[in-house]
Amino acid sequence: MKISLGAKPLAFPMPTFLVACYDLKGQANAMTVAWGGVVCGQPPCLGVAINHVRYTYEGIVKNKAFTVNIPKTSQSTEADYLGMYSGKDRDKLARAKFTAIKSQLVNAPYIDDCPVVIECELAHEIDLGSHGLFVGTILDVKANENTLTDGNIDITKVDPLIFSASREYYQIGSFVGKAFSVGKSLK
Ligand SMILES: Cc1cc2nc3c(=O)[nH]c(=O)nc-3n(C[C@H](O)[C@H](O)[C@H](O)COP(=O)(O)O)c2cc1C
Repeated sequence: MKISLGAKPLAFPMPTFLVACYDLKGQANAMTVAWGGVVCGQPPCLGVAINHVRYTYEGIVKNKAFTVNIPKTSQSTEADYLGMYSGKDRDKLARAKFTAIKSQLVNAPYIDDCPVVIECELAHEIDLGSHGLFVGTILDVKANENTLTDGNIDITKVDPLIFSASREYYQIGSFVGKAFSVGKSLK
């Protein structure tokens, strides 16, 4: 039997993205975002839902660009910190000892310390209510060499930080099966 829990902003699992941009003064800032994911294949696009009151919001609107940085589980303290304090009154990246590098492709910084970074040019801003959905066209994905297996990003080597709606961080579990493959047994 299912128990109704009411309308909630919920999905399982959620990512822990660190969305970075330049602020109105040109300083690099980043915030934690769990509400986001891939939204288009051609062109490749990512969507991130950001509350209108976030300092990051105005930085993305001004610069029309952002990066999505994927932290590893050992960076949970830094990721959580970026999600609790505003860059309006502090240099969060310096406090987290993260190195911001200016993207060559978009007017946004990426966090060099994260194993995977995704550089996005703002394509759409959709007002949904409390949050605006920023859809970015992905211009490049950069990954540390040691996260690759046969040229592809290996999730076990990235060891991404996973967010749960129960307000906890998790690590990925074990391999289950090959996608676009195991289902063929039911054809
Ligand atoms: C795990 C986690 C996930 C979060 N996800 C979101 C999100 O998806 N959208 C959002 O607007 N804020 C989210 N936040 C809150 C912002 O990261 C937080 O308000 C942050 O301080 C904003 O930084 P800024 O003022 O420098 O932009 C999240 C915070 C945490 C800790």
